[in-house]
Amino acid sequence: MELPVQKNQEYEINIEDLGNNGEGIGRIDGYTVFVEGALPGERVRVLIVKTKKHYGYGKLREILMPSPDRVAPACPVAARCGGCQLQHLSYEAQLRFKTKKVRDHLERIGGFSGVEVLPALGMEDPWRYRNKAQFPVGGKTGEPEIGFYAKRSHRIIDTPVCMLQNEVNDRIVKIVRTFLAEFELPLYDETIHRGLVRHILTRIGRHTGEIMVCLVVNGKKLPHSDVLVERLRSVEGMTSIVLNVNTAQNNVILGSEIHVLWGKEYITDTIGTVEFEISPLSFYQVNPVQTRVLYQTALDFADLDGSETVLDLYCGIGTISLFFARKAKKVFGVEIVPQAIADAKRNAAQNNIENAFFQAGAAEEVIPRLYQTEGIQADVVVVDPPRKGCDQRLLETILEIGPKKLVYVSCDSATLARDLAYLCPKGYRIEKVQVVDQFPWTVHVESVALLSRE
Ligand SMILES: C[S@@+](CC[C@H](N)C(=O)[O-])C[C@H]1O[C@@H](n2cnc3c(N)ncnc32)[C@H](O)[C@@H]1O
Repeated sequence: MELPVQKNQEYEINIEDLGNNGEGIGRIDGYTVFVEGALPGERVRVLIVKTKKHYGYGKLREILMPSPDRVAPACPVAARCGGCQLQHLSYEAQLRFKTKKVRDHLERIGGFSGVEVLPALGMEDPWRYRNKAQFPVGGKTGEPEIGFYAKRSHRIIDTPVCMLQNEVNDRIVKIVRTFLAEFELPLYDETIHRGLVRHILTRIGRHTGEIMVCLVVNGKKLPHSDVLVERLRSVEGMTSIVLNVNTAQNNVILGSEIHVLWGKEYITDTIGTVEFEISPLSFYQVNPVQTRVLYQTALDFADLDGSETVLDLYCGIGTISLFFARKAKKVFGVEIVPQAIADAKRNAAQNNIENAFFQAGAAEEVIPRLYQTEGIQADVVVVDPPRKGCDQRLLETILEIGPKKLVYVSCDSATLARDLAYLCPKGYRIEKVQVVDQFPWTVHVESVALLSRE
């Protein structure tokens, strides 16, 4: 079948929509073309670089008519770096895009219509919001490259500044960069699995100002670490300097072994009135300002009166559990990472919260087992799974438990829609969905759905 476009030919097209990865979508005689960097409402000239049976890819050559939502990226490497996909789109338009993305997924993947999707709650100042940075390290010995991966690759874009990270990272990276160059430490090359220093990970307590620096190494020790510790300690707020051992030949950033080089093994931060200790291996939401908004939305949706038993599944270090505990009779959290559960238990004790209990394990194993052996019950279930969504075994048990309310916190609206499509025909109704912008300038979308039992 002959396609309406030919590779290596240029065409003028109108961009009608934005794809899931932030690329513009246009059509030539009904044939879909994805154009990175183009925005809805624009007329552009593209070079067709790849064709498939039903769609193709065009390279943006010229913007003939720009969108009123187009803005100049604030970051000089925005077009190359894989971290941000939407720096050329105004913040207001990003919020509209995210609300629409959730609605589209619910309609197309979930088969729902007429769901109330509330407009995305955005940030007043959407820059420098991240509390966690993961900088890959590479390059030649003595000439470290530290920055972020380029789009769709593991090539490092060396950059001294990132507009999403806390400013203090600029200084930390500079100190580590100078140290690595000065002592000519071998830098990791993932293609041959050689070299020592793989990543620099930092965490910053937004409200406490505490800082953790974690160097991920392909080995057991970091030569001259005393010098690095001395230099990093001069950064105000430095609380914890640790080494993470990762000798595995894969893309996972952290290994499971942690050695404290100086200070504590964790940092402390607060969400609302609850204080949390966070260790390097535990999940912690990356945008502390919006985390408060997200949890408050979940709490408002749950609408607790103090008599409820709540299950918090995929609970991390117990942040949602402890946020809910003061309004509920009892909260039970389940999380797969044992270190996070240790953090959760410690956090409950330190905040004098006595009605929150935690268990380590896969939610899809722990909950069905507890339901069968002890007949575990719940009035409200909160789930906050990773992007792949909930395991079907867990959803089946939730249906058997039959809570009055289910609050689904999701970081991927496609899997949210899939899971809701499984639950709803079996006795639940979507009341509303609130989009919360946790990741400005990127295509990632966080949302909270409230389901009630029919
Ligand atoms: C998106 S995070 C949410 C954590 C927490 N609710 C929060 O707001 O910080 C998802 C969590 O699920 C955990 N996890 C992944 N698979 C799991 C499973 N099968 N069972 C239980 N927890 C799991 C991860 O370790 C991570 O802590």
